[in-house]
Amino acid sequence: CRVRHYTFNVVMKNTTRLCSSKPIVTVNGKFPGPTLYAREDDTVLVRVINKVKYNVSIHWHGIRQLRTGWADGPAYITQCPIPPRQNYVYNFTITGQRGTLLWHAHILWLRSTVHGAIVILPKRGVPYPFPTPHKEVVVILAEWWKSDTEAVINQALKSGLAPNVSDAHTINGHPGTLSTCPSQGGFTLPVQSGKTYMLRIINAALNEELFFKIAGHQLTIVEVDATYVKPFKTDTILIAPGQTTNALITTDQNTGKYLVAAAPFMDSPIAVDNVTATATLHYSGTLSNAATTLTTPPPQNATAVANKFTNSLKSLNSQKYPAKVPLKIDHHLFFTVGLGVNPCPTCKAGNGSRVVASVNNVTFVMPTTALLQAHFFNISGVFTTDFPRNPPHKFNYTGTPPANLQTTNGTKVYKLKYNSTVQLVMQDTGIISTENHPVHLHGFNFFAVGRGVGNYNPKTDPNNFNLVDPVERNTIGVPSGGWVAIRFRADNPGVWFMHCHLEVHTTWGLKMAFLVDDGKGPNESLLPPPSDLPKC
Ligand code: C2O
Repeated sequence: CRVRHYTFNVVMKNTTRLCSSKPIVTVNGKFPGPTLYAREDDTVLVRVINKVKYNVSIHWHGIRQLRTGWADGPAYITQCPIPPRQNYVYNFTITGQRGTLLWHAHILWLRSTVHGAIVILPKRGVPYPFPTPHKEVVVILAEWWKSDTEAVINQALKSGLAPNVSDAHTINGHPGTLSTCPSQGGFTLPVQSGKTYMLRIINAALNEELFFKIAGHQLTIVEVDATYVKPFKTDTILIAPGQTTNALITTDQNTGKYLVAAAPFMDSPIAVDNVTATATLHYSGTLSNAATTLTTPPPQNATAVANKFTNSLKSLNSQKYPAKVPLKIDHHLFFTVGLGVNPCPTCKAGNGSRVVASVNNVTFVMPTTALLQAHFFNISGVFTTDFPRNPPHKFNYTGTPPANLQTTNGTKVYKLKYNSTVQLVMQDTGIISTENHPVHLHGFNFFAVGRGVGNYNPKTDPNNFNLVDPVERNTIGVPSGGWVAIRFRADNPGVWFMHCHLEVHTTWGLKMAFLVDDGKGPNESLLPPPSDLPKC
């Protein structure tokens, strides 16, 4: 293993998409940003130099950060943001992980343009548990707004209403030929016939789960969220913001051009956005003006397609990569996640109310001191440890909501003893309307042991849990009008954010944090903060 050094210059860059230009915040002037390469067991040092007028922080999404919570990145959770003209070195070691992850800004809506891939190769000499591909290609899905994204969310917060949806989705930075600016073209992936390629697919979009499909080709899924899965074939992938998927594709055609398409999955009656992003798979020897074989992604309410994909995911669970599902559970938690409305006298457009989001009826309020600092230095008054293990009242979560379901504001964390085990059931609610919530947990991978529609039944549903080979990941879609059950071991001391990875829902308050107490052993305590940790 070795030490890898990266420099991330956060700079403005004038960028043209959809036939119009705007200055965007980037890393090293790139959209999407540079790929961070490392191997399992490497130590990574990324010097982030803030050359823009905004506060910045970067999160290494899915990296466990064992004992190094200071390098996790969410602003006001594990660190104060890096102010303009200052630097911070993120210093972490990649332990027991290999695969595809992503990095992204973790403050306000900056991640719309500040994101990129993390590629962790296996240790030297250790092969993949599948045939070595001829070539590997990073495929980043994202969104593009013609206007400034900070302005979009600020306007929404002022009005109390939902923000505008993006003007396009993108594949490796480009909306493609079905967008309002077809002349700008799209991303082209050149391939040779008769080979196997591995696509490292990342959803870096702010607010959309996406379907992904390639005309005329099947995909073999081998890994999600940097954990190996039992390989299976599919023609469509479902991928939520924050999720990553490695797919093998065999170029079994002789020649031709094939459409690559990404389009939203939104299993909700309030769906509005249906712009397909496209790219081209281009076989060598094919004329550039040859006709493209087309494909259409599933419609945005194609729940059956989404479920089929999700239900196909199982941990590889081989001798070398066993699924270590916790069987004895110390903390049984039941969290409702969803949208609601609170009064807002100044919200004229919202008729005196605003959309909020919550977990167990708590709308999380961002602190002004980072929670991890407050924990480490015993600063009182920053957070409370009374996050409820159950919702305040039982109701028909997915049916007609009772009146007066306003949320309470708070900066509450749930405390876990080091190395204790957790089963968390997350139940979507339909207070405004049911909606998907791809929930991301920092600092851990978890096992997705159960999933269902309607209200979770604690008596009968656990009988159907998969405790043998459930998929292991860091971001999971709580289905619209349904629930998921996850299990993990709290073996990482620190303060760990958990939130919906639809950025609009995070902004509205669908977030909370776990505080994992230090253990007593020599390798179980949180390391002290680095000397250049930004101050609030
Ligand atoms: Cu990828 Cu807290 O986020």
